[in-house]
Amino acid sequence: MAHVLGIDIGGTGVKAAPVDTATGLLIAERQKLATPHPATPDAIVDVVGELVRSFAWTGSAGITFPGVVVDGVIKTAANVDHAWIGTDAAKLFAAATRLDVTVLNDADAAGVAEMHFGAGKGELGTVLLLTLGTGIGSALFTEGVLVPNTEFGHIEIRGKDAEKRASEHAREMDDLSWGKWAGRVDEYLEHMEALLSPSLIIIGGGISKKSDKFLPLLTGLRAQVVPATLLNDAGIVGAALAAVRS
Ligand code: BGC
Repeated sequence: MAHVLGIDIGGTGVKAAPVDTATGLLIAERQKLATPHPATPDAIVDVVGELVRSFAWTGSAGITFPGVVVDGVIKTAANVDHAWIGTDAAKLFAAATRLDVTVLNDADAAGVAEMHFGAGKGELGTVLLLTLGTGIGSALFTEGVLVPNTEFGHIEIRGKDAEKRASEHAREMDDLSWGKWAGRVDEYLEHMEALLSPSLIIIGGGISKKSDKFLPLLTGLRAQVVPATLLNDAGIVGAALAAVRS
């Protein structure tokens, strides 16, 4: 398979690395630049352009976006500037970088990587990946096939958007102990389990590095709950894989 540049646009940083899509391994050291604020299309395009130049990349790139992406067009932008809504991101990035570009939702990309090379490898049942970061992202698979653009971070719990209670950002903002926050995550996962009955739940995003702090505190779930194994690189790797498949 090919070597593809994977770029992961997040709420705090934009990360990139070239990926060997046959092995899922990064073939050069990952670069990270801060996400500009406000995270407008022009500002993000500048950062993406800088990353592409830093690798002197030509060819293909897969790029993630933290919102709903349909045929390269951004439909929602919960945690980035709303000017993105309606933007043809694939066209915009392709024009700015002169690369062959595929754009997809960030959690979907992380899910694709985990199903290929990580915690979901070989799992044929219903698998739900949730990234607990700035927001909550979701990726749903059955028989290894993705249902794109699920937005399970926005189900309502106790009258609030779930990501406002159970994301890593919410833990920091509300200054919650691991125990208190794990209680919120537990309640959220129980809702998801009642709706979808997954056999496996994979917890991704930056928080997957600290899974020993809260996974043992979860109770009462039927599904197996495991941390993502690609940790913070899942978005980059999944973006690159998506570019090869598209
Ligand atoms: C967005 C999702 C995204 C998630 C993680 C949510 O607020 O609506 O599309 O996957 O944050 O970035």
